[in-house]
Amino acid sequence: MAKNVGILAFDIYFPPSYVQQEALEAHDGASKGKYTIGLGQDSMAFCTELEDVISMSLTVVKSLLEKYEIDPKQIGRLEVGSETVIDKSKSIKTFLMQIFEKYGNSDIEGVDSTNACYGGTAALFNCVNWVESSSWDGRYGLVVCTDSAVYAEGPARPTGGAAAIAMLIGPDAPIAFESKLRGSHMSHVYDFYKPNLASEYPVVDGKLSQTCYLMALDSCYKNFSHKYEKLHGKQFFISDADYVLFHSPYNKLVQKSFARLVFNDYLKNSSSLDEAAKEKLEPFSTLSGDESYQSRDLEKASQQVAKPLYDAKVQPTTLLPKTVGNMYTASLYAAFVSLIHNKHSTLANNRVILFSYGSGLTATMFSLRLHDGQHPFTLSNIAKVMDVGGKLKSRHEVTPEKFIETLKLMEERYGAKDFVTSKDTSLLSPGTFYLTEVDSMYRRFYATKTTENGVTTNGH
Ligand SMILES: CC(C)(COP(=O)(O)OP(=O)(O)OC[C@H]1O[C@@H](n2cnc3c(N)ncnc32)[C@H](O)[C@@H]1OP(=O)(O)O)[C@@H](O)C(=O)NCCC(=O)NCCS
Repeated sequence: MAKNVGILAFDIYFPPSYVQQEALEAHDGASKGKYTIGLGQDSMAFCTELEDVISMSLTVVKSLLEKYEIDPKQIGRLEVGSETVIDKSKSIKTFLMQIFEKYGNSDIEGVDSTNACYGGTAALFNCVNWVESSSWDGRYGLVVCTDSAVYAEGPARPTGGAAAIAMLIGPDAPIAFESKLRGSHMSHVYDFYKPNLASEYPVVDGKLSQTCYLMALDSCYKNFSHKYEKLHGKQFFISDADYVLFHSPYNKLVQKSFARLVFNDYLKNSSSLDEAAKEKLEPFSTLSGDESYQSRDLEKASQQVAKPLYDAKVQPTTLLPKTVGNMYTASLYAAFVSLIHNKHSTLANNRVILFSYGSGLTATMFSLRLHDGQHPFTLSNIAKVMDVGGKLKSRHEVTPEKFIETLKLMEERYGAKDFVTSKDTSLLSPGTFYLTEVDSMYRRFYATKTTENGVTTNGH
């Protein structure tokens, strides 16, 4: 059986256009600080008419293969996680086959996985399980998380974002799964869903989704800890993890979630909490589960107690979720990308705990162990290839008015046929795929921006 199976390499793509949350807040007439402090968000990327989940995933897959010099024939499984529906039958994976067919490789298993923001994790587990299984043929797996998060006008709109992330999967990985350490919680609720197939926008019960998220977190942590205890003969506490990564619809929920884990540790009598912390949390020790989700005082006290630990174990993972926004399936993995960007030289031998949540709902907590790795699959090379700093610097700020105008155009274009795009690629970096046309049979055509003025058409 393959050993240390996990993520060998990462790459990320996010659109160059973004809106500042401070500007959006003022434009929307929200009170100052609501989006930036209240939701904890800095800025938000979005797709213009040139980009969608297919173009972003084409861009990120091509970039990963080229930058790590992977022969496309060496990919044996390709899984996509997405909740952005462009076609109810044809998978995004099949669009990505254009890259591989050119090299004579059509022998690639896998399709798309969908359940809100959890699809990327399902895709990742499928690939990792394949490499660990008897049907593995020795080639790499490739996982793509791609989403454009847009909301109708209203309180959820500032919690959008857009990105695609690609992850190469194989044995002897610098980011290896602790496969036995997974705790899940799945259940039927209507907290966020997309029943209107004529619209890209979800129906969202924001407050319910927040409570569902925290309940799923508690349950996953309990199941995860139980498995850890069975395996290692001792209790699991947050102090056993170097970093904790969360799916991030908006940063405030991540702050609340980490505090919730610290409160769970208090209830388990963790020795790593000092007396002052225990004293602050003691008044809440007898609350029922339901009462504890509603208690603002508990929320405040646990966030206060958790703050130093949050700064050390969570804050380095928040850069992209705060500056690109909610990327749905890619959001949790963008937290990982942020961690590697910020800390790649000190991550060897660290344990990272991840919490993946998809409304509806599906959730899993799992554990990864980090190693230096072998070139080109080293943490420092991954950080270099992703060039998060460079990508953020080359973005282009647009006004809230222009952002809203773009969303209006995208509303008209959603599910439409027979149109061509403006093809103004001035903001795109060379190598970026973009949409040129949707024909009378709804077939989508993409091109790649080249280093010269011309373009290379890619066909459908
Ligand atoms: C999160 C969401 C419910 C917030 O919308 P809202 O009801 O208008 O916002 P609230 O009035 O609760 O304000 C949000 C926060 O900002 C705080 N706030 C409001 N105005 C503020 C200001 N001027 N300065 C600082 N903080 C402010 C509020 O106190 C609140 O903080 P809290 O959560 O700690 O109480 C909404 O954005 C949403 O539905 N987002 C989508 C959620 C989602 O994606 N769910 C699915 C995936 S899990």
